[in-house]
This record gives sequence, C-alpha cells and structure tokens, in this order.
Amino acid sequence: MDLFRVKPIDEKLEDNPLRPELGGLQLVLLGIGAIVGTGIFVITGTAAAEHAGPAIVLSFILSAVGCLCAGLSYAELASMIPLSGSAYTYAYSTIGELMAWIIGWDLILEYLVGSATVAVGWSGYVVSFLSGIGIHFPAAFCNAPIGYKGSWLFTGAVLNVPAVFIVLAVTTILILGIRESSRTNAVIVAIKLTVIVLFIVFCFPHVQPQNWVPFIPVSTGVGQFGWTGIMAGAGVIFYAYIGFDAVTTAAQETKRPERDLPVGILGSLIICTILYVLVSLVLTGIVNYRQLDVPAPVAYAVQQVGPSVAWLRPLIELGAIAGITSVILVLLLGQPRIFYRMAADGLLPGIFSRVHPRFRTPHVTTGLTGIVSATLAGLFPIGVLSELVSIGTLLAFVIVCISVIVLRKTRPDVRRLFRAPLVPWLPILGAIICLAQMIFLPVGTWVRLVIWLVIGLVIYFSYGHRKSRLNA
Ligand code: ALA
Repeated sequence: MDLFRVKPIDEKLEDNPLRPELGGLQLVLLGIGAIVGTGIFVITGTAAAEHAGPAIVLSFILSAVGCLCAGLSYAELASMIPLSGSAYTYAYSTIGELMAWIIGWDLILEYLVGSATVAVGWSGYVVSFLSGIGIHFPAAFCNAPIGYKGSWLFTGAVLNVPAVFIVLAVTTILILGIRESSRTNAVIVAIKLTVIVLFIVFCFPHVQPQNWVPFIPVSTGVGQFGWTGIMAGAGVIFYAYIGFDAVTTAAQETKRPERDLPVGILGSLIICTILYVLVSLVLTGIVNYRQLDVPAPVAYAVQQVGPSVAWLRPLIELGAIAGITSVILVLLLGQPRIFYRMAADGLLPGIFSRVHPRFRTPHVTTGLTGIVSATLAGLFPIGVLSELVSIGTLLAFVIVCISVIVLRKTRPDVRRLFRAPLVPWLPILGAIICLAQMIFLPVGTWVRLVIWLVIGLVIYFSYGHRKSRLNA
C-alpha cells in the first residue's frame, strides 16, 4: 500500500533556496510567454484548412473551455500547495506517490520533449526568415541527421545547428537567474503581443464576410468539417494552449504564491483565449480557409491581402520567432523545477535538487535539461514526438482535475485562497473534455505514451520507491 502513500499537504518549506522574486504580472507574462507560439502562428492554418473551416473559431472556444476547467483546478491546487512541482506535487498530496511519479515522468514529455519540438520549429522559421533577406543557411546544418520513414535512416544532414543554438542560449539565461529569465520573457512577450495586435487591427478592415460563409462547411467525413471537424480541430489546436500550467512551476520563486499563481494561470489563459479567437476570426475572414494549409499561414494571409498590409509580413515572422523563443524559455524553466521537487522528495538523485549559491537557480538540472533538449532538437525528427507532448499534457490535466475533487473530500479543512467554482462538476467536465481530446489522438501516440510510462515505472521501482523521503 505504500505505493499510495501521500505527502502531507501542509508541509511547510523550512528554507526555500530559490529566490522569491515574481509577482502576479510577471506570472501572467510567463504564462503568455509559454502559450503563444507555434500553435497560433502555424497550426491554426492547417486546422482550419483540414478540419473546421471558419468554425476553427468554435474549436478555439471549445478547447479553451477544457483548458479553463483545468486552469481553475490548477489555480485551486496552486493556492493550497505553493511548491514548484506543478501537477507532480499536487498528485503526491492527493492520489499518492506512484501516481505522482507517473505524472512527474509524464511531464517530461510536456516540458523537455516539448522544448525540443518547439526548438525545431524555431529553426525552421529562422532559416526561412533569413532566406527571405538573402542569407541562405546550408541544408546540412539546419536539418535533423536522423530520419524516420517506416524505419530509422540517416538523412545526410549533419546537425540542426539553429535548434541546438537556441536551446543552449536560453539555458544559459535560465541558469543566470529567475529575474533575468523573467525580464527576457517580458521583452519577448511585448514583441509578440504587439505583432498580434497589429495583425488584428490592420487586417480587420480587410475582412470579406463571404469568406465566413458557410461558417461550418459541410462535413466530408468524420473529423473533416461539420461538427466532428470542430471537435477534431479542437484536439489539434489544443497545442496552442499548452503552457499556462507552466506558471505553477515557478511557485517557489513567487512572492505570494497563494494569490499570484491563480492570477498568473487564469490571467494568461483568458488573455490568450481572447487573442486566439480574434486572430482566427480575422485570419479566416481575410483569405478563404482552403488557402491556409501552408507552413506560415498568418504571414501568408497578409501577403495575399495586398500591398496595404503586406508590410506586416516580416513583422509577423519576427513575432513568430520571438514567440517561439519564449515558449522554449518557459518550458525549459519548468522542467528543472519539477525535477528539483522530485529530487527534494527523494524520488530522483540529490544532485537534481542542487541550487547555485549565487544565482539561486537549480543550475545542475537546468544545464542537464538544456543538454538533453539540445541533443533531441539537433539530431531527431521531432514530428512524431510532438503528439506525445499533447497527450502527456492532457494526462496531467486530467489528474489535476481529479485531484481537486479528491482534496475537497479528504482535506476540506485546508485553507484555499482560491476556490474553483462548481466543484465537482467543473473539474469533471474538464477531465471529460481532456480525455476526449486524448482519445482522438492516433493509436501510435498512445503506444509511445505507454512505453514511456513503463520505462518510468522501471526507474521508480529500482530507485525512487526505495529512496523516497517518506520511507523515513
Ligand atoms: N502553446 C505553445 C505553442 O503554441 C506550446 O507553441
């Protein structure tokens, strides 16, 4: 039964080696930093062209409802348990050590693998931007040397140099301090928000309402247009919302975590939902959705509108590059802090919880995470792995929703500065929407998730279970 032992929820932090610097505003910016990236700048186009048409707007709203239910659940738990391990920590105090380990292991897919996939996307955008201004990057140095087409093969490329570069550069900033990281993030967020607002404001007058007709195109098969298309579209663009939960990994670096974490989670989620709905409305209004199946749909659309807004194109490309950079930054910020908590609880070796005496950051795990992420990003074709990022994140959201319900029953006495409304119905709805999105992902992704979790279990039973601090 000790597999289900729980950590006391009101465990106090005797001494917090990390530096509590951040307030509500910085957390909202961190959330936006993690959320707005590849999803809105790239995936929206494919999702509209292949699944939902102009009704991609409804897909965005549907996915946001699932995220909002999960976000409200995260906010309640974060206001009760201000430790940096995110869903891992919450599971440890509710459904026990084994599930906590599984979630911690699963979060590696969201954060570490996520950062590598996003870095590959960054490399693609930068290389195309540079070629647009006449600088041509040799193909051998901006592609993955290892490929997968039914079986593994060598592509002839040497290394994806830009992808490795961005991961290592961001890792260096993260080691230097939470204040430096948060400031860098704030600058990047300002750039990408400006670009998005410019797009909405300058392109809105060019909307041609006939592009929105029919708003929900007639279905041509399951998941292709019609109502099932809207559902499938929601599953695809869920990726665009990933990241608001990363705010919780900064709990021990927040001045008043009980109050500021809910502000950061919900503030960033609401702002991004509004922006996403507006961007997708304008995007499908200025060009026909069938034209949007291109690698850079937003940049492509402004070009199509004509010279009066074509000047926006390079700005949008820069905004996308900046946006993707901060996604990498916040994901690489979250991962070491989850490892840090797992090591502090004894489930990982002590070296993972080491904190730099001057920078007060978990420098060893930050460096390690950066090196592994850079290796993945530099060598591997990341396409297959990106769906793993979504399934891993959805699993964490389901567990968090369930944890809220469990804790209301087992520990009604603990003070909750933020209470999610409509419990248990709201978390149940959140869990159902997230599970539904998981079910629509390909079987291969499920198989890879199971293999990953089995590897995690082997490590848990050969190490963590014996070394857990709860043994004492
Ligand atoms: N939400 C992040 C993005 O869209 C992962 O890039």
